[in-house]
Amino acid sequence: MSKASSAIQFRWVSFQTHRDVILSLRRAILVDEQGFDPSIVHAEGDETALHLCGFAGDELVAAVAVFIHHGMDEELRRWQLPEVSGLVTHYGRYVVHPDHRGAKLAELMGRFLARHVFETLQPVLDFIILQGPHRELQGMYRRLFWFRFHARVGEGDDETIVMVRPPPDYPRAYLFARQREQALSRQLGIYSPSLIRFLDDEGRVELIPKDGHVQLNYYTSPLSLTDELPRLSAQNRLLFAEQRARLAKVALPPAPARLLDIGTGSGVYLTLLRTHERLAGYEVHGLDLSTKLLQYARMTAPEIPWHVASAYQTGLPDASFDVIHASFVFIHLVNVDLALREICRLLKPGGLLYVVDINDATFRGPPEIQEMVKVHAAIYEGDRTILEHLPRRAADFDLQLEHHFSTRLRNTAASETPEFLEDEVRLGRVTAWGMYSFLGQREELEEEFDIAQDLYFSSGCEISVEIQTQVYRKPPAALASADAGAPKPSQAEETAIRHAG
Ligand SMILES: C[S@@+](CC[C@H](N)C(=O)[O-])C[C@H]1O[C@@H](n2cnc3c(N)ncnc32)[C@H](O)[C@@H]1O
Repeated sequence: MSKASSAIQFRWVSFQTHRDVILSLRRAILVDEQGFDPSIVHAEGDETALHLCGFAGDELVAAVAVFIHHGMDEELRRWQLPEVSGLVTHYGRYVVHPDHRGAKLAELMGRFLARHVFETLQPVLDFIILQGPHRELQGMYRRLFWFRFHARVGEGDDETIVMVRPPPDYPRAYLFARQREQALSRQLGIYSPSLIRFLDDEGRVELIPKDGHVQLNYYTSPLSLTDELPRLSAQNRLLFAEQRARLAKVALPPAPARLLDIGTGSGVYLTLLRTHERLAGYEVHGLDLSTKLLQYARMTAPEIPWHVASAYQTGLPDASFDVIHASFVFIHLVNVDLALREICRLLKPGGLLYVVDINDATFRGPPEIQEMVKVHAAIYEGDRTILEHLPRRAADFDLQLEHHFSTRLRNTAASETPEFLEDEVRLGRVTAWGMYSFLGQREELEEEFDIAQDLYFSSGCEISVEIQTQVYRKPPAALASADAGAPKPSQAEETAIRHAG
């Protein structure tokens, strides 16, 4: 890990509070070092831009701005951009202090931006302009950040190169950025705070599109439900057997209490869950985006209220649930922060978020099967390693991790009857392959899947992966109201608190 970057923290800041330090860093780098005209220092649009900054202690050492355009305006016409309606973003004034260069800090910042901007703002177009010495960086922006050449405006020293990242390139750019970001972030020990939380705190929620990802269901869209339903039901029974002991260890709120199962699917799991003795006297509700899946749920248990809605925007009242449950759902979400924000809103103070998911970062097996898992990670909009990052991301929304349980699923049972051990479940070889067989439905993975499946069934190879359970608590009311009366921590203190542990 680089010494220079290890102590750096990233924060979204408002231009109003950090104007002087941002302008002075830009002046030192863009004017004094790179020879730009001083008029470049303060950009038109800085006041409404989103500023991502890197701090070493209290010192600003890196900054970049995301400028916001609502539809076509004079600037977009000047850069000969296509007529679009909707949000357009423009990255610029990218500056890194000389002491902190060469540590991949600038690359990491670019990736944070790409991920947050796509997940949260979903612009119809985003672009960069390259002027002066920056024009030589075209290749780097194409290679690392997926921008494509769009236009050359002006001549000689005044020439400006315009590069764009238009849909449909954008989702691919996003997935590419997210993967590299996760690797770099781990390597440098630098994390990105939530843009959604920042927009909430700044009262700028109008920048979060209302309909954005709300209707997207990355679970059902690539799958055939006829194939998927039997697999899901078998998985539900297995999961419930594994979860019995886990649930008994968690301090669930006493009945009468209300539980909402987000991404409930066919409802089979919820009907099993509500039979657990710890949930006796609970009123349970299920919610899913898929009307088709909820049809099955209604048929199975007409007495349960089933809500057709998105995890990002449920339409249910504030503080109306004691427990929110989500099994095998977070791995399918592209905007985890938006879901966490909605969950916080729905939970009563002191309420629990109970998450169960597979974590592909814990997958073990022969290289050919690992390759299939890796290639899937590179094409899937959801994130099957999300539980690696969820504790930190949930902390951005004041949800504190109370329990983390891991159960390793292995393909080493003597027969197809599962064997339950402490923190381990042994499955038969065919049942265990069922955890990954759905990947065969993705066309893009055909080759990797065939190689992996052939190897799996022609050898005695072992595979295993963890199912993890994470339980988070929203602060109790007394704490929340005491916090409201106490002086607000400074942004630096807040970031330190959020990133502690
Ligand atoms: C793998 S299934 C899990 C179903 C169930 N929780 C279980 O454990 O069997 C994932 C579910 O999440 C739902 N889903 C995906 N994206 C969603 C979203 N944005 N809002 C609500 N549900 C969503 C899908 O429709 C699907 O039913």
